[in-house]
Amino acid sequence: MSVHKEVRKITTHVLLEMKRNKKKIAMLTAYDYSMAKILDSTGIDVILVGDSASNVMAGYESTLPITLDMMIYHAASVVRGVNRALVVVDLPFGTYQSNSKLALSSAIRIMKETGAAAVKIEGGEEVKDSVKRILSAGIPVMGHLGLMPQSIHKFGTYVVRAKEEEEASKLISDAHLLEDLGCFAIVLEKIPASLASQIASEIKIPIIGIGAGSVDGQVLVLHDMLGITQEFSPRFLRRYASLDKIIGDAVVKYIEDVKNCDFPDKTEQY
Ligand code: KIV
Repeated sequence: MSVHKEVRKITTHVLLEMKRNKKKIAMLTAYDYSMAKILDSTGIDVILVGDSASNVMAGYESTLPITLDMMIYHAASVVRGVNRALVVVDLPFGTYQSNSKLALSSAIRIMKETGAAAVKIEGGEEVKDSVKRILSAGIPVMGHLGLMPQSIHKFGTYVVRAKEEEEASKLISDAHLLEDLGCFAIVLEKIPASLASQIASEIKIPIIGIGAGSVDGQVLVLHDMLGITQEFSPRFLRRYASLDKIIGDAVVKYIEDVKNCDFPDKTEQY
């Protein structure tokens, strides 16, 4: 007789319950099947197929060039590796800002072609119509405020956002707006910890921080926290491994073994 272990899938409702019960939410990015499978087996709550794929997978300097088709390829690969975690997919630059009909059709493509459970959108008031329309089709939306990498050409730099009163008060009202519209969570990126914690205490949906202090949950880019990438070292990034060295050492050893005729040996052939 086989024993089936029931997996309690993480849904947007589970995340709301976690906030109510003061349980922290752990979220990481992933872009492919193999990594997603490892992440899911650890008990991670949320996997974000971030448009940071543009940087860490495709080697672009910003998140702007990645296309909807590329995001769909990454997201569908991730979903095939996941049983439990909630998979959220970034709507890439240019697929939701210009009008809400385009936003809805981009979100529908993501949901239909990847099997993911939600989409993430950068912005507040400016993208209100798109958020509303996507939500009206029953697609859960995660917001993203503070440093919004898709607007890098407007900001000019990746420095901490909302340090000044005017930007901080717009951010607070955008967070309330996203909650009122029906978003199930909001990512706050690179803003003062005191501002993020004020927002997290004022609103009921989970606030997931990246460089925003201790809020309801945290997110990091997988390749940065694993030390696959080393060139990006902001203060908020804690590196949990140096995989660049582990991978590099393994490959150097492999090259040596091939060149010295040590690989394959008798047991490694037919
Ligand atoms: O694209 C991404 O990886 C993100 C996270 C940094 C939140 O949006």
